[in-house]
Amino acid sequence: MQFHPEVVHTPHGDALIRNFLFSVSGLSGSWTMAAFKAQAIEKIRAQVGTGKVICGLSGGVDSSVAAVLIHEAIGDQLTCIFVDTGLMRAGEADEVVTLFRDHYNIPLVHVDAADLFLGKLAGVSDPEVKRKTIGATFIEIFDAEAKKIGGAGFLAQGTLYPDVIESVSFTGGPSVTIKSHHNVGGLPERMNLKLVEPLRELFKDEVRRLGVELGLPKAFIGRHPFPGPGLAIRIPGEITLEKLDILRKADTVYLDEIRNAGLYDDIWQAFAVLLPVRTVGVMGDGRSYDYACALRAVTSVDGMTADYYPFPHEFLGRVATRIINEVRGINRVTYDITSKPPGTIEWE
Ligand code: XMP
Repeated sequence: MQFHPEVVHTPHGDALIRNFLFSVSGLSGSWTMAAFKAQAIEKIRAQVGTGKVICGLSGGVDSSVAAVLIHEAIGDQLTCIFVDTGLMRAGEADEVVTLFRDHYNIPLVHVDAADLFLGKLAGVSDPEVKRKTIGATFIEIFDAEAKKIGGAGFLAQGTLYPDVIESVSFTGGPSVTIKSHHNVGGLPERMNLKLVEPLRELFKDEVRRLGVELGLPKAFIGRHPFPGPGLAIRIPGEITLEKLDILRKADTVYLDEIRNAGLYDDIWQAFAVLLPVRTVGVMGDGRSYDYACALRAVTSVDGMTADYYPFPHEFLGRVATRIINEVRGINRVTYDITSKPPGTIEWE
């Protein structure tokens, strides 16, 4: 039998844990984010000493919070590397560079590796092969950049607790690999860098609270999570530049409508998926034969379980009309109503 009191959907699960901790075990619950931050900074300083740290920025909340935390701990001993995989959403790469270089003044290396990633992904359609290819390419670039910076002894990552439990078996127990997260494990020995992972024991909501504690802009902290392998896992089948461009446009329209409707903050994650399916449609007087796209939006507390978001039909109709009118290459839009489990949030 399996019982998961920690999962949001378990009735009274949190009460069960609370009773166990505070009534049965007599603990007091004095943990605060401010104390966590102070301890994390101490731990980073103790681990790193006078060493140099490089940190991979992905543009997401996790690596950003990790970078700002580490910067607060050790200042310019930290250099951030932003690898532009070409798999980011529209405008995202520029936003990252502006925020970190101009706003935070954190030393930042910007690597435009889009061609390299696309080349390695050519002809790849298996989700696990995609993830592993992206992970390996990422590490290869890191290795090269780290060598250029010189003297780095540590690699910082914004790994969260759900990444840890879903990807590796901590205890050697029977939990299966659902997906190989590209930011966990697989670091080749040759890289010879020690890992600094200050968020390893936190869930997403806690990372956001830590971000607030560190003074990151609210709009930035509130951003929906974005996976390391980026749009590659939102294009089932082979990835091409053409498909990426189509997906970026559809995704922009979808999120634009979500923001206009004031729904962005009610949703854990919303994104478009470009399906490897062409369907027949009519456009004006002509026949079209273009891609279908799926829209996904879920609510969740920690990404471990999720419910699909119950958009009003008028909203979905509006988004579908705009995507089909504005995005050349898509002629059909569907809405994904799968919850997690049995689905996962991403399609791959
Ligand atoms: P799934 O699809 O497993 O996703 O239900 C749970 C959460 O994790 C994100 N995700 C990733 N994040 N590297 C990441 O940093 C990855 O390889 C990765 N895969 C999924 C996903 O977007 C969702 O928020």
